Amino acid sequence: MDVVGEVAVVTGGASGIGLALAHRFAVEGARAVVVVDLDPARAAAVAAELAGSGHLGLAVDVADPVAVAAMVDRVETQVGPIGLWCSNAGVATGRDLAADEDWTRAWDVHVMAHVYAARHVLPRMLARDRGHFMITASAAGLLTEMDLAPYAVTKHGSVALAEWLAIRYGGAGVGFSCLCPQAVATPMLATAPPESATTAAGAVLEPERVADAVMAALASSQFLILPHPEVADYARRRSADPDRWIRGMRRLWASLHPES
Ligand SMILES: NC(=O)c1ccc[n+]([C@@H]2O[C@H](COP(=O)([O-])OP(=O)(O)OC[C@H]3O[C@@H](n4cnc5c(N)ncnc54)[C@H](O)[C@@H]3O)[C@@H](O)[C@H]2O)c1
Repeated sequence: MDVVGEVAVVTGGASGIGLALAHRFAVEGARAVVVVDLDPARAAAVAAELAGSGHLGLAVDVADPVAVAAMVDRVETQVGPIGLWCSNAGVATGRDLAADEDWTRAWDVHVMAHVYAARHVLPRMLARDRGHFMITASAAGLLTEMDLAPYAVTKHGSVALAEWLAIRYGGAGVGFSCLCPQAVATPMLATAPPESATTAAGAVLEPERVADAVMAALASSQFLILPHPEVADYARRRSADPDRWIRGMRRLWASLHPES
């Protein structure tokens, strides 16, 4: 996938990683970048500040299936065929085991939103035999996130869905990627507690470095995008010996929470 001349849609595009992706796609020569986010003013402001012209900001809750269907129709009709879809919006709701509403929101945004997008975007890409569909999951989806159970569990769902889509619909024409960063300096990370294992586990990357990793992966049609390369090693250790990995994670939790 080469973004030059393509219509790129970035959900959660008004902040953090999505914002960096939107800027990068515009700079790299996308024909139009569609910035999708909850707040209409912020989505429009980001679209207006991107390099070049023809970009669009849309206020859509990606967890609303009717709104997603209407948005895809509108982009395809008004802007043009979608070449690159980045299903990136995410929420870090609910500490620990959290409340039912946190689980529902996390499931809706981290799993169902990608399903709704896939239902409407993929048939078009498959009919054209071209396009790329990326899901932003997280290293939490390959490992865990010790502070937020709904986040950890539903991000495993994001990874599983991305794998399923790539197996079922991937091929010569349509590509799939799953972006799994660890800590990235965004407003979401600012909500993490000071004793967060995510920040203790490795470098906190700037969102622009995540955009670098995405551009490299798009160029090589790579499925799993790991801006923090050490995550591959953690995932290998987890699958090689789950009991040892859990003991190590318990020790990490205890070292970060000496009072517990
Ligand atoms: N920051 C990190 O350390 C980190 C690490 C791994 C994965 N991620 C993932 O990266 C993605 C982007 O996160 P970020 O760190 O840039 O966070 P962020 O909070 O800066 O940006 C997320 C954006 O998504 C939007 N959003 C949330 N729910 C939405 C919805 N229902 N509909 C439309 N827009 C919605 C928010 O308004 C916000 O603008 C998320 O999926 C997140 O889980 C982040």
